[in-house]
Amino acid sequence: MVQSLLLLLLLTVSTVPASADEDAFIGVNIGTDLSDMPSPTQVVALLKAQNIRHIRLYDADRAMLLALANTGIRVTVSVPNDELLGIGQSNATAANWVSHNVLAHVPATNITAIAVGSEVLTTVSNAAPILVSAMKFIQSALVASNLDSQIKVSTPHSSSIILDSFPPSQAFFNRTWDPVMVPLLKFLQSTGSYLMLNVYPYYDYMQSNGVIPLDYALFRPLPPNKEAVDANTLLHYTNVFDAIVDAAYFSMSYLNFTNVPVVVTESGWPSKGESSEPGATVDNANTYNSNLIRHVLNNTGTPKHPGIAVSTYIYELYNEDLRPGPVSEKNWGLFDASGMPVYILTLTGSGTVLANDTTNQTYCVARDGADPKMLQAALDWACGPGKVDCSPLLQGKPCYEPDNVIAHSTYAFDAYYHRMAMADGTCNFNGVASITTTDPSHGSCKFPGSDGRNSTFVNGTTLAPSSNSTASSCSSRYYYYGDAFVRSTVIVVLLLNAVFL
Ligand SMILES: *[C@@H]1O[C@H](CO)[C@@H](O)[C@H](O)[C@H]1NC(C)=O
Ligand SMILES: *[C@@H]1O[C@H](CO)[C@@H](O)[C@H](O)[C@H]1NC(C)=O
Ligand SMILES: *[C@@H]1O[C@H](CO)[C@@H](O)[C@H](O)[C@H]1NC(C)=O
Ligand SMILES: *[C@@H]1O[C@H](CO)[C@@H](O)[C@H](O)[C@H]1NC(C)=O
Ligand SMILES: *[C@@H]1O[C@H](CO)[C@@H](O)[C@H](O)[C@H]1NC(C)=O
Ligand SMILES: *[C@@H]1O[C@H](CO)[C@@H](O)[C@H](O)[C@H]1NC(C)=O
Ligand SMILES: *[C@@H]1O[C@H](CO)[C@@H](O)[C@H](O)[C@H]1NC(C)=O
Ligand SMILES: *[C@@H]1O[C@H](CO)[C@@H](O)[C@H](O)[C@H]1NC(C)=O
Ligand SMILES: *[C@@H]1O[C@H](CO)[C@@H](O)[C@H](O)[C@H]1NC(C)=O
Ligand SMILES: *[C@@H]1O[C@H](CO)[C@@H](O)[C@H](O)[C@H]1NC(C)=O
Repeated sequence: MVQSLLLLLLLTVSTVPASADEDAFIGVNIGTDLSDMPSPTQVVALLKAQNIRHIRLYDADRAMLLALANTGIRVTVSVPNDELLGIGQSNATAANWVSHNVLAHVPATNITAIAVGSEVLTTVSNAAPILVSAMKFIQSALVASNLDSQIKVSTPHSSSIILDSFPPSQAFFNRTWDPVMVPLLKFLQSTGSYLMLNVYPYYDYMQSNGVIPLDYALFRPLPPNKEAVDANTLLHYTNVFDAIVDAAYFSMSYLNFTNVPVVVTESGWPSKGESSEPGATVDNANTYNSNLIRHVLNNTGTPKHPGIAVSTYIYELYNEDLRPGPVSEKNWGLFDASGMPVYILTLTGSGTVLANDTTNQTYCVARDGADPKMLQAALDWACGPGKVDCSPLLQGKPCYEPDNVIAHSTYAFDAYYHRMAMADGTCNFNGVASITTTDPSHGSCKFPGSDGRNSTFVNGTTLAPSSNSTASSCSSRYYYYGDAFVRSTVIVVLLLNAVFL
């Protein structure tokens, strides 16, 4: 038994796809079909405020790439479908595209991938015959500039190219596309790139006529008898997302490609729809995206490849009011054009929070009508024995104006309260202070607790891999595609998980 298990482990070692990055990350897509599209500077300000570290653009807009310079944000740029034919037919055009849209911006802007076209096979199939040439031409331009190891080339696919996707073990790519998919996968394999896949459990749910339970699409717990079991592999599927990603792995292995990782280039849920789209609600969008983020950042992997990172870009940053189609089409965003969140993601418990999670955010301010002398005494105490850093209140500093005891004591009270982790009784100051949920920040004077200072979205935690690594999240760190040296112990752990879970 032990020997056969070892044999199984050895045989399977080469078939575990590496994670496409060191750890799973969450990124966000930025569509621009808005009547009042924010300026690149405003977009970048929102990304920074929300600690979004990975984005995908649908083009390679110069102003946007300039605004992203020196932010550390990782960027996937795209060759738009209407530029694909030219690039796929001419090495020189491809080299020119790379020169203008990539070389002009790196390294200041951290471009990490080029998405060549978008859902080409299913939306502009006339370009399908030149898709792989376009990717190869782009790749050779990167090689010529010695950027091929840091910038990966791929192309996002609609998951509708996967047929018979349940059970996942029987899924295969629509064979019409074998003449494209086989050289495409060869290219991804030989360049250490990854399969880009758009995964929309929303559509699977909507189109299933009730066969797919809403809970299964939303990653909500299912009673064991409702869990989907793949009869061939006996793997249990608790959500649609995992089933689709595994269907992609199985479709690749059907073509004998077993080590190309998957990155989900789009996934999300609309927050509003027509009366004929009852699934499109704020609650469902919040539930889907919150659970998706938790699932991805936990490095949970899929039943077929537990612990293997499946990094995912949420669709999308903004609601796009100009997009044609039903109401839902305009309502996939996390934010409106002004940067206000459409809903507050409920990520408590995951240790990471996106967006303006103000649910538990409170501030300590000077009480209305409090005696100015008592306020002054409390202010003196806070900045003295209370050890609050009151330097922002000095002349010329951000919180000097307005220069009055109410404003200054409010700053000091709030700083003290947050330093004390908002513990009971730390916002009192002899009765002249009170708690509020309204952020008293103004202009460049940011109050403690505002924008995540000592709040739930402390910098570094949001949308980044959890620093609270589990065994499985550590494993992917050592596990790059193409590394000659493979930590076999890690793989054994992963496979034991696969065997016993
Ligand atoms: C760019 O992103 C890559 C991938 O995440 C990272 O390894 C690299 O350190 C980044 N470079 C800079 C200059 O931030
Ligand atoms: C395309 O151009 C690159 C340089 O950018 C060159 O290395 C490569 O050989 C060219 N490929 C073809 C097919 O002409
Ligand atoms: C496979 O792809 C072809 C070409 O797009 C399409 O006509 C056909 O309907 C697809 N097959 C299925 C079963 O979806
Ligand atoms: C995959 O490999 C097997 C065994 O080497 C071979 O029989 C089969 O034809 C291959 N399939 C494809 C699609 O190349
Ligand atoms: C996170 O992963 C651990 C195992 O690595 C698992 O037990 C736990 O249920 C996961 N949590 C979520 C929210 O998926
Ligand atoms: C605030 O956080 C606590 C846990 O820390 C939670 O139980 C509570 O529901 C939260 N309050 C709101 C309004 O979400
Ligand atoms: C934020 O919290 C850290 C430790 O949790 C503390 O050292 C720091 O002083 C706090 N900052 C403010 C402004 O309260
Ligand atoms: C959070 O939302 C408030 C309005 O509710 C807004 O004024 C503030 O700028 C937002 N903060 C961030 C970090 O987006
Ligand atoms: C927050 O970010 C600042 C600068 O961006 C950094 O100096 C600080 O160490 C970070 N704090 C945490 C807790 O990561
Ligand atoms: C890691 O997560 C566990 C369980 O969620 C928690 O008990 C522990 O305190 C966390 N450790 C750190 C360093 O955050």
